[in-house]
Amino acid sequence: MKSPNPAADLPANPVGERYDRMVDSPMHCRYYEDSDFLNYGYWDETTAGQKEASERLVEKLLDFLPVRQGRVLDVACGKGATTRYLCRYFRPAQITGINISEKQVSIARRNAPDCDFRVMDATRLDFADASFDVVLCVEAAFHFRTRQRFFHEACRILKPGGWLLLSDILMCKEAEKRRRYRHEENYVRDESEYRRQLEAAGFARVELVDATEACWKGHFMNVVRFFHEQYFAGEISRQQLADHLRLSYDRVPDTEKYLLVAAMKPGPPAGAPEP
Ligand SMILES: C[S@@+](CC[C@H](N)C(=O)[O-])C[C@H]1O[C@@H](n2cnc3c(N)ncnc32)[C@H](O)[C@@H]1O
Repeated sequence: MKSPNPAADLPANPVGERYDRMVDSPMHCRYYEDSDFLNYGYWDETTAGQKEASERLVEKLLDFLPVRQGRVLDVACGKGATTRYLCRYFRPAQITGINISEKQVSIARRNAPDCDFRVMDATRLDFADASFDVVLCVEAAFHFRTRQRFFHEACRILKPGGWLLLSDILMCKEAEKRRRYRHEENYVRDESEYRRQLEAAGFARVELVDATEACWKGHFMNVVRFFHEQYFAGEISRQQLADHLRLSYDRVPDTEKYLLVAAMKPGPPAGAPEP
């Protein structure tokens, strides 16, 4: 029987707990300019800071859509900053966000009070078949057990003609196996294999864009700049600078690709005229 508290039905999730710790970090909030985003963002030489980069990342994903309308699900919505951004284009009553973490969901409710938020695992989506027009997932699918199971669930809950949009990070096989918050089953060799996995889940019209420079490298350079500024301003010690940088440098040899992805569930959109 389901408990009245959906979070109680989920086993303790170390990935959610790891992000919950970040939520409490003042340095993390300062880096994200109190925007509550939790992603690398999309950078070019005109990008002013992390908040703008994070907004541009959502914008880049929405650019794949032929129209920005209908019912949308923000999977692994973090603290609801991505969900709040969706309100620029979708009616809040049409937007749902889910996250494995109850703590983050409660923050998300404050960030986007007119949207619907639920505590839920992305690989077990408690929604009816064909109930969303768009499923968005920003920088989280590599955490799921498994990404492939999420693809199947996303396809099931999308209406025919609906779109899955995601940004995702591929690491080398050894890192998928070794790193604490990644899973070996999620190792994907390259874009062709990623496309095959989406097609196996039922998707068509798969588009993959290699955004490693704009997302991963852009973020990395900004993190390095930010922590040096904090150090020279006397905000952090030499040891803290070294600790923060080690965390970032550690990802350099492991990270292979940052992908922007769009895939359509085949079939005419609901209400489309018969051919
Ligand atoms: C890098 S953050 C991205 C958050 C948000 N999309 C953003 O861009 O600000 C990854 C998020 O995935 C969530 N998460 C991890 N595993 C999950 C799962 N199995 N189901 C739902 N959410 C999950 C974490 O709690 C975290 O909020």
